[in-house]
Amino acid sequence: MNRVYNFSAGPSCIFEAVLQKAADQMLNYQNSKMSVMEMSHRSKDYESIINECEVRLRRLMNIPENYKVLFLQGGASLQFSMIPMNLMKNKKFDIINTGQWTKKAIEEHKKLGEVNVIASSQEDTFSYIPKVTKEMISDDCDYVYICQNNTIYGTAYNYVPETNGKPLIADFSSCILSKPYNVSDYDLIFAGAQKNMGPAGLTVIIIKEDLIKEKPELPSMLSYKVHADNDSMYNTPPTYSIYMCGLILEYLEENIGGLENMQKINEEKARILYDYLDNSKLFKNPVNKEDRSIMNITFVTGNKELDDLFVLEATKNGFVNLKGHRSVGGMRASIYNAMPIEGVKKLVTFMKEFEVKHHV
Ligand SMILES: Cc1ncc(COP(=O)(O)O)c(C=O)c1O
Repeated sequence: MNRVYNFSAGPSCIFEAVLQKAADQMLNYQNSKMSVMEMSHRSKDYESIINECEVRLRRLMNIPENYKVLFLQGGASLQFSMIPMNLMKNKKFDIINTGQWTKKAIEEHKKLGEVNVIASSQEDTFSYIPKVTKEMISDDCDYVYICQNNTIYGTAYNYVPETNGKPLIADFSSCILSKPYNVSDYDLIFAGAQKNMGPAGLTVIIIKEDLIKEKPELPSMLSYKVHADNDSMYNTPPTYSIYMCGLILEYLEENIGGLENMQKINEEKARILYDYLDNSKLFKNPVNKEDRSIMNITFVTGNKELDDLFVLEATKNGFVNLKGHRSVGGMRASIYNAMPIEGVKKLVTFMKEFEVKHHV
């Protein structure tokens, strides 16, 4: 079967070998004579699936011992509320506004306290990442909040903001596992799984243990402490998504050879597409060069009808989900870990042909 090249921003493509392994194990997981989907989350078989998933994640990301890994649900969006609910003391939050996902986080934080937007790139349609220095941090904020990779605009922090000793909280939904990050630069990292970690339904939280506090006033399901004390088994976790995440982590370790190698591949894919865009007379990437994402690459022709025609013709040729986010228009190629390099090369070839036909 000829599969399409899926440039979706999420849920997005998954390594074909992983899908194949999941298919092979679908009816009978390791001679258990049942599917992982049918398994009790308290069974021995499942216990080893979730444990191995955590071990692999810790190894791949080099997560320090004093960080807890939580496998939760509710999407990345629930974290916009869970983070302040669990971490607030002064109820003051410094947030850097780099687009729709921080705007949503800002709205949720405002329900619980005072938000100080210490920097924003809104005036320039979020085409860059503001430079944050420690002088900008409020003395009494509970933490500083950023979105590490801005899925919609194709921007990313290519530096770690200085926070003047305040905890740094980061939304890693669209860049986790794309390259090695120094986890200890952050106090809490969270990610919806549906880009680089597997199917939707799982949200991963990597949190410094000393931030996990007893919060008796919180509903149990919203408390990090409750989930941490129960090793993410306070209730039924998203069992199949965790199993798929484990298979992806196994693939990253055993077939890719770790995140340094993944980074090389991702940078090469991004280079191929950016090089073409920088030299194209038809397409343009609107993002400040220093702040470019290697995961989501946006481009426009400057003519809406031509953009629409491009998306239509690309789809007919097997390059799907290239339409930009509805809030910004244009095009976006999400080239997460599982997008093969030949997918990007073939897309560029297709774009060149389109340019020859349509550039006047
Ligand atoms: C950076 C970022 N944060 C948060 C979200 C929201 O994730 P969810 O749909 O899992 O709540 C997304 C979704 O695309 C995202 O890209």
